[in-house]
Amino acid sequence: MASPYAEGTREKVASKLPVTLRQELKTRAAQLGIDMQEAVTEAVDQWLIRPVGDNPAVSTAGAESWNTWLPVGRYDRFKAECGARDISYAQGLAQAIRVWVDSHSASLTELAIPQYTRRIVVCNQKGGVGKTTIAAGIGQAIALGLPATTSRPAMPGRRTLLVDYDPQGHLSSQFGVKQVASGEESLVTHMVDRDRVTGALLDQVVPIAPEHFDGRLFLLPSSFDAFLLDSRLGSVRGPRETSLQRALAPLEEHFDTIVIDAPPNLGLAMDAGLYYGHRRKSELADRSGVLIPVEAEDSSADAYAMLDSQIRTVCLDYEVDIDRLGLVVNKFDKRKGYVATHSLENWQSLGTPPVVAIVPDLKEQREAVHVKQPLLMYAPTSTQAQRMREIRRRLG
Ligand SMILES: Nc1ncnc2c1ncn2[C@@H]1O[C@H](COP(=O)(O)OP(=O)(O)OP(=O)(O)O)[C@@H](O)[C@H]1O
Ligand SMILES: [Mg+2]
Repeated sequence: MASPYAEGTREKVASKLPVTLRQELKTRAAQLGIDMQEAVTEAVDQWLIRPVGDNPAVSTAGAESWNTWLPVGRYDRFKAECGARDISYAQGLAQAIRVWVDSHSASLTELAIPQYTRRIVVCNQKGGVGKTTIAAGIGQAIALGLPATTSRPAMPGRRTLLVDYDPQGHLSSQFGVKQVASGEESLVTHMVDRDRVTGALLDQVVPIAPEHFDGRLFLLPSSFDAFLLDSRLGSVRGPRETSLQRALAPLEEHFDTIVIDAPPNLGLAMDAGLYYGHRRKSELADRSGVLIPVEAEDSSADAYAMLDSQIRTVCLDYEVDIDRLGLVVNKFDKRKGYVATHSLENWQSLGTPPVVAIVPDLKEQREAVHVKQPLLMYAPTSTQAQRMREIRRRLG
């Protein structure tokens, strides 16, 4: 990724940090509602001005590669100071972050709830129901945030990563982003060919219309090799279900929300996708999970039954809970008559998962795809854009 920040304001810093300290930093920053990079900047600034004796040595055993962004020029100052203090950069950074974490205490109640990156897996093995449309739309709405209304508080924009997990690459192409060519390093390599990995997955993340989304919307493009993912996962050593989670783990600290646009199938790749949405240890219910676009027609109901059974199987096999965040009844057109209205009633009568939005079949969605622009930028006042904001509100 070139830089998730406004041109020239911050520079990427590649260093090392013990995994546990990284997790503590992420948790504490999230608990306090502070952007990770702001926390690191503050930590480094304080370290620079603190008397040397107030920076206790920190064990850097088990330190792993770690990227962050600092205001331009700050790291040079920091490195010079590490040189003057005769310590490694990794030691200096660990000291800075250790003191920052220890001096930003959160209450015990807050500490009991780990702040994970929210993971939303948009899935349905039925083709063409609107997975890509809904993933893209809610990603945009989450990145933009919502203004306060007379009855509801504002929802601040969040740093959001859209992951194109479908070899068809529709999500990438609708933002005008090229798919990763066959044989090139990609999400697939990071999932099933870790011995061949040479770069960070973060470097493949591209910003989407940063001027419109305040630099908070990003995309991890699809790889053509994802067509082979099911068969590759079949022969992978070690647990398969965690392969997507393992590959995306280093990205999580950079994003508040990760939205997965799943492919229209139910193979091993989809198991890994569903697993990625499972509720983690002590994570609040209904924060992460699956969001399921459906259509108001009979074949959609049959497909949903299969998907639901697959979700149950993954939960049983891997002993996890996967929250069903909701159904989005998409491409609804009541002019289609009884089948459409009756089918909508059936979806609503399910109750769990709830119908979180009914999105009409309107031209703006197709037009936005045609001109390769995000919907909330191309037609921000359209009914469809409004529905995407409603889903964002419903997700909480
Ligand atoms: N509410 C809508 N109104 C009009 N067109 C829509 C709407 N939702 C989706 N579409 C269009 O329907 C087509 C299929 O939608 P989309 O690609 O989002 O489905 P999908 O489930 O991701 O498909 P696939 O299974 O192939 O991945 C696209 O051309 C999209 O622009
Ligand atoms: Mg799709």
